[in-house]
Formats: sequence, structure tokens, C-alpha cells
Amino acid sequence: MGSDKQYGGSGMGFMDGTYMPVSQMCIPVTDMGFQLADMCYDAVHVWNGRFFRLDDHLDRWEHSVAERRYDTLGYDRDQVADVLHGCVARAGLEASMVTLAATRGSPDSAHKDLRSCRNRFMVWAMPYYAAIEPEEVERGCGIVVAETIRIPPDAVDPTIKNFGRLDFVRALFEAYDRNGRYAVLLDRDGHVTEGRGWNIFALKDGVLLSPESGVLQGITRQTVLELSEKLNIESRLARLPADDLRAADEVFLTSTAGGIMPVTRIDDTAIGDGTPGPATVRLKEMYWALHDDPAYTTPVRYELAEAS
Ligand SMILES: Cc1ncc(COP(=O)(O)O)c(C=O)c1O
Repeated sequence: MGSDKQYGGSGMGFMDGTYMPVSQMCIPVTDMGFQLADMCYDAVHVWNGRFFRLDDHLDRWEHSVAERRYDTLGYDRDQVADVLHGCVARAGLEASMVTLAATRGSPDSAHKDLRSCRNRFMVWAMPYYAAIEPEEVERGCGIVVAETIRIPPDAVDPTIKNFGRLDFVRALFEAYDRNGRYAVLLDRDGHVTEGRGWNIFALKDGVLLSPESGVLQGITRQTVLELSEKLNIESRLARLPADDLRAADEVFLTSTAGGIMPVTRIDDTAIGDGTPGPATVRLKEMYWALHDDPAYTTPVRYELAEAS
């Protein structure tokens, strides 16, 4: 199922100290980011010309960079923020997904001592997109529960946001083989974890649950926990067996890319009446309303587009 559409075609990016179109951004094959998936990243979005929860994303980014021990990036927090603003401003986007990434870089010899690498920092801003198809964001999507398990957290820490994702790749091909598009992965004890690009929630008997461990600490997940308190819905992070997910009254995915996205089918079973549930719809409305709240948002400095 190939396509001529070019991913990233209209975006603007920054790497090796220079702004450039995303289509021109390349890393050398000798970068350990390519050879070992030795990299980390974060993704923040802009809506109506404002970053959403920028400080929370920068906190998580700094956690990832420190844990991976990338110490030669050469950009402090304010400079990183400037580049984020600079990319969105140059792309002229009011609604954008902005990715910031660090790679280990290239070693100084074939012995590949990782300590000899000069780490690489890059950012790119693209038009806003969701982790699932736009009509599924409205009407709901189906997911499959994969046989492939999520990489255990004691092997690769999922709280460091990263592209080492061959578990998701294998699970997605399982989904395609079962006429699905999206897959949720379990841990080795059969508890639900997450999918490529999203956390998951299940509402059962008025209680909202999301997996407590083995997952990225999603910023949208955090927003949902805060909003459910305002709605007086009891919510908690907990272990979530796959059968409890299948038996839930409502299920939804959360991601910076798409917000709160209803799940209306798991494998061959409809969730609830097969349409987005009332709590999901209400949380989604409240989530998007926060995008006008100055406490959660930072205006893009579009004047930076004029800078050299
Ligand atoms: C593996 C994984 N889990 C969860 C999420 C959702 O995190 P956030 O809400 O911070 O976008 C993402 C986002 O890309 C992700 O890659």
C-alpha cells in the first residue's frame, strides 16, 4: 500500500545550527541514532497559534536527555524553546506538531565508543496531525490486542520518549494481518500498556483507569487525569488486564497527536454501543477548551520568522 504523498513535505526544521525545510533534514548513516536507535525525542503541539503545555514537554524532554546522557547538545532550555518557536514561525503554522529529537551522533572510530560521539539536536514543525485518521477521531476507531508484547521497562525505559519501536512495528503488522490499523500491546503478565503514539484509558462502572507502568507518562494522559477530577469522575493509574479493557463501558486513546480519541471496537467486540461514549465526548470538549486557557498555553513568537 505505497503512496506518493511525501511525509513532512511542507514542514520547517532545524539541525546542525541551521533552519531548513524538513525534506532536507538528514542524519549520517554513522549516527548511532540510526544504528542503535540511540536517540530520544518529544512532541509538542501548537493550536490556534499557541503551544500547549510547553513547560511540561520541556521537563519531559530534559528528563529523556539526562537519562540518555546526551551532554553535548549545546542548547539550554531557553535556546531549545527559541528553536521550537523559530521552526513554527518559519513554517507559518497555526496548528502544528513539533518534534524535538537528540541522537547520540557519530563516533570518532569504527570501535564506536559512545563517549566519543558529539550528540545531535534537531527540531521540526509540521502541520498538525492525529495518530489516527481524522474521521476516526470523531467517530471512533478499532484497535487489536497484539500478541507481541511491549519491550519491558527494565530493558528500555518507556518514560524516555524514543523511536526504538520494533515491538510496535511487529504489533502493527499483526493488526494489518487482522484487517486492523492500530494495536495495543500487553506486558509479559498480560496487562495493557500502550500503542505507537498513544496511551489508553478504560472507563468501567464510573471509574477511569489507565496503565500505571511500562508506558510513556503522556502529557495528554496527565491532562485527562486533571480533567476527570473536575468532572468528579474517579480516575487512577492501575494495572489493567486485557479482559477488563474489552469489558469497559468506554475506551479512548490519548496523544498530543489527536488529543482524546474514542475507541469503539477492540478485536471483534464493540465497546458500549459502538459509538463514542458520553464521558469521552465530554473530556474531549474540555480538553480542546483548555487550548484557549493562558495557564496551559504559550503564544508562538511568530516575529522570529523575520530573524535570519
Ligand atoms: C509510546 C507513546 N505513548 C504515549 C504517547 C502519548 O503521549 P503524549 O500525550 O505526551 O503525546 C506517545 C506520544 O507520542 C507515545 O509515543
